[in-house]
Amino acid sequence: MNALVTGGAGFIGSHIVERLLAEGHRVRVLDDFSTGKRENLPDHPNLEVVRGGVEDYATIEACVESIDWIFHEAAIASVPKTIEAPLASQRINYGGTLNLLEAARHHGAPRLVFAASAAAYGDLPGLPKGEASAVCPLSPYAVDKVASEHALAAYHHLHGMHTVSLRYFNVFGPRQDPSSPYSGVISIFVDHLLAGTTPTVLGDGEQTRDFVYVADVVEANLRAITTDAAAGGRFNVGTGHAVTLNELLTALYRLRGREPHPQHGPARAGDIRHSCANIARAREVLGWRPATALVEGLQRLVSSLEG
Ligand code: UD1
Repeated sequence: MNALVTGGAGFIGSHIVERLLAEGHRVRVLDDFSTGKRENLPDHPNLEVVRGGVEDYATIEACVESIDWIFHEAAIASVPKTIEAPLASQRINYGGTLNLLEAARHHGAPRLVFAASAAAYGDLPGLPKGEASAVCPLSPYAVDKVASEHALAAYHHLHGMHTVSLRYFNVFGPRQDPSSPYSGVISIFVDHLLAGTTPTVLGDGEQTRDFVYVADVVEANLRAITTDAAAGGRFNVGTGHAVTLNELLTALYRLRGREPHPQHGPARAGDIRHSCANIARAREVLGWRPATALVEGLQRLVSSLEG
């Protein structure tokens, strides 16, 4: 197949690219390199890299040409950035999705899988979250992710396109950038583990998250694009198990036979207390289940960073 991966030089996108290349597909990456890195991608004869933004329709139109599958991972992924710059979020996080849908409609209607987010659920009570749960987007990021999901579903209903939204929970794995305070917490904690510096737990550490390993997220993407019955749907991509941050830190440090001695900081404003996915729908329709236990994923991540 010919695949387009937007945000393909980023954390999750680059793992999708790697898998597609390994399976013999031809891959075009579209990335503006605002956070993505060329070194996240291999040099490969079947890989073409285009520098550009999803907010530019002409760029998208050129990229969608003769493509069969689109994996749409490009976004401003930082929630605080979208709070500071909601118009940019609208242009990129929502407008980028609409550009892809519209260009796809006019150029052979390739299948499209979209990186949606558990941010859709906000902090409404009731766990685990199923796809029929109410949504409560609390940031421009979440608003634009939810709006994008609706646009995908509408294009399915209006134009019969194969569109699927995957609501990622807390994804972790190699190539996740730990450099910002809003980077994924596992990337930050692993950085501290390897540097011998002190991690900071924000709040009491009893908040819970559903951490899913990036290779399992890639598998969900492949199933979403190939499963006819998934068209028009949205699916949670988590594990169905949540751990507290304290448990996470202990498990991580145990890999090196150490005890974490974190410092504590104030809880993050707007932090969600508990998050956990119900993944029954993905199991049923996609035949997908996460294959990587948390400790195994942590081990793989640490090993990858130790080279
Ligand atoms: C995640 C997503 C975000 C999405 C949200 C929806 C990531 C990186 N972010 O945010 O895009 O909107 O789910 O629910 O996946 N923490 C510490 N110490 C640190 C850093 C973080 O204690 O050094 C804490 C945070 O306060 C939070 C938890 O770790 O309680 C997880 O933080 P983070 O990895 O940023 O993810 P979410 O806040 O769940």
